[in-house]
Amino acid sequence: MSFTYIDLFAGIGGFHQAADSLGGICLFASEIDTEAKRAYSANYGLAPHGDITKISVSSIPTHDVLFAGFPCQPFSIIGNRLGFDDIRGTLFFEIARILEAKRPRLFILENVKQLSRHNKGKTLQTILITLENLGYKVYWNILNALDFGLPQKRERTIIVGFWNHDVCFSFPTTKIKGKLEDILEPDDAVDEKFFASERIINKRLAQHNSEYYPSIWHENKSGNISSYPYSCALRAGASYNYLLVNGRRRLTPREMLRLQGFPDTFQIVCNDSQTRKQAGNAVPVNVIKAVLKEALHAETEAKRQQRERAV
Ligand SMILES: C[S@@+](CC[C@H](N)C(=O)[O-])C[C@H]1O[C@@H](n2cnc3c(N)ncnc32)[C@H](O)[C@@H]1O
Repeated sequence: MSFTYIDLFAGIGGFHQAADSLGGICLFASEIDTEAKRAYSANYGLAPHGDITKISVSSIPTHDVLFAGFPCQPFSIIGNRLGFDDIRGTLFFEIARILEAKRPRLFILENVKQLSRHNKGKTLQTILITLENLGYKVYWNILNALDFGLPQKRERTIIVGFWNHDVCFSFPTTKIKGKLEDILEPDDAVDEKFFASERIINKRLAQHNSEYYPSIWHENKSGNISSYPYSCALRAGASYNYLLVNGRRRLTPREMLRLQGFPDTFQIVCNDSQTRKQAGNAVPVNVIKAVLKEALHAETEAKRQQRERAV
């Protein structure tokens, strides 16, 4: 069944990918970064509005579902406020402001795993209480992209809210393993610029012997190497330099997008460094697709039971 949605802090549209695959129709997106906006427009034919703090609720269309992968910066502000109940001035407040005015029937929010532990859990509590006070039945969990068919260890806090309090929701508990083989390009198809020099490769091979092939090697700041049949979490910063395919080369932007569940039909229109940043910031598409599917199913089931009770 089709539903309408808005995509806040839209990045390159991890939520958009998941929603459209389940019948979603995007009515509005907001993203502040010029290059991410360009990638979003090119891929979805919809130009995101800019800074959400400058957008009045009257210019946001009524919608069924709100998605937001809000930046992690503001939660430190939320937690540090006296009393922990004042969310004004944070980007989470922008979500609360829109929920209050528009009352979509469902929302899905995403943030880093650390949100759940921040300030001894008080920050997340503030967020959950705020959402409940707006009238929503709220669920949260930490999900790992590794369990959703993506070979990337990426744990994220996911918050789901329903306007209909009769909905009984459970987070998906799938354990689908993805394979690096399905993500990686053959070395001979990868541009030379992604490869380390022979000297560096030999130095690494002398230092570490992986028990997996293919594998992603992770080199930490002190130069220690570990390797796994999956990637550590992609990040927006330079951390990509420390993720090495079989110890020999960096990941390509296309491989990074695949690690986040973006299909190859996603057009790369920005340069390597922008695309790496965008991929590192994105939400894993497979995780949101599984959560959204479960949420839509739980809503349908609640409605069916309401109808049954009515007769
Ligand atoms: C964690 S990323 C979300 C990425 C997105 N979920 C995706 O799949 O690509 C947060 C995004 O919020 C954007 N952002 C930060 N402040 C913003 C603001 N005031 N208004 C709109 N977007 C903002 C950032 O540029 C960044 O792209």
